[in-house]
Amino acid sequence: MKKLKNPCILCVMISIALLLGMLSGCDSQAPQEQPKTPPTQGRSEFDEAGAKSDIKIGLLLETYDVARWARDEQYFKEKAKSLGAEVISAIANGDQDKQNQQADTFLTQGVNVLVVVPKDLKTAARIIKSAHEKKVPVLAYDRLILNCDLDTYITFDNEKVGYMQAKGILEKVPEGNYILLGGAATDNNAKLLRNGQIKAIDEHQKATGKKINILADPFLDNWDKEEARRRISNMLTKFKSEGKNVQAIVASNDATAGGAIAALKAEGLDGKVAVSGQDAELAACQRIMEGTQTVTVYKPVRRLAESSAEIAVKLAQGKKPAEAIKEMGLQVNNLNNGAIEVLSIFLEPQFVTKDNMVDTVIADGWHPLEKVFANIPKNQWPPSK
Ligand code: GAL
Repeated sequence: MKKLKNPCILCVMISIALLLGMLSGCDSQAPQEQPKTPPTQGRSEFDEAGAKSDIKIGLLLETYDVARWARDEQYFKEKAKSLGAEVISAIANGDQDKQNQQADTFLTQGVNVLVVVPKDLKTAARIIKSAHEKKVPVLAYDRLILNCDLDTYITFDNEKVGYMQAKGILEKVPEGNYILLGGAATDNNAKLLRNGQIKAIDEHQKATGKKINILADPFLDNWDKEEARRRISNMLTKFKSEGKNVQAIVASNDATAGGAIAALKAEGLDGKVAVSGQDAELAACQRIMEGTQTVTVYKPVRRLAESSAEIAVKLAQGKKPAEAIKEMGLQVNNLNNGAIEVLSIFLEPQFVTKDNMVDTVIADGWHPLEKVFANIPKNQWPPSK
């Protein structure tokens, strides 16, 4: 560049530049790149939370159909915001192709990390491929994604959840005819839950010499109440015609337990057949107090959501998963997803029956006492502490 002969000209130029800079600094609406308005479909397919920040997290949820997911989302966003990160989220309404497209949209919008609750354990792998092409790490949230180079995975110990579900039922029905009602066949958790259930049943049979007769053990297409109701209703009709009574249903979550109990009710069997669940949904907690559901498994979702937000922020800052997990004082586990050993975190679930409802779900603020006991006469409520 040609040297300026008169240094005063340079002074004038610098002063003008400084003045302009100060003026634009006064305007908080100074031109800055505005994020593209994401397309919306139905109830907040896309949503944004948190002030504009250097860290942008893309949160991809599968559905709001099971009540917990809205709370997962809320806790995740609150924590991420408190850590100074911006979160954009999307709901796939049970459609993996749609979720894969939502991931692409987020990658185009420049997210620094993706957090995914997949619908389909296999085809969701495409998200990891696209993200890694842009050097964006991916955290699988609660459900594992198979056969891909997943960065990290956080969940509850799902085999333990399944073990607890069966345990709760075995205590009530130590021998007899069982139906094992599996969750969505597309969800890896459904299989892990089943492993835990079988483990509990095997152990029980060996320890007591009592026989558990498994009449049927289907998986569903979705974690869906109506699908569960229909399947159980058909099975009850069939087994009745064969002269077999069903004594227990090991349902893998509360939504499907609700469907199973509706089918039992139609036959006048609700409260007579033991039923398990998972998620400590309000309706399930009420059924437990009323005596139509035997057990649920409570997973402190706030812990999962907040830990995930913390890891996501660290990954976005360029930390390696193992380092991020250790910094948070959590244990790193290895879980094979068919392609690699995924660095994973397993949080502890809690077993919930009538006896410890107050000390678990209610003490933790998951549901208020007056709602859980809404259908129980007031003179049977626990004394307020
Ligand atoms: C599973 C999850 C359960 C339940 C279910 C239905 O993956 O582990 O807690 O919520 O999905 O959405």
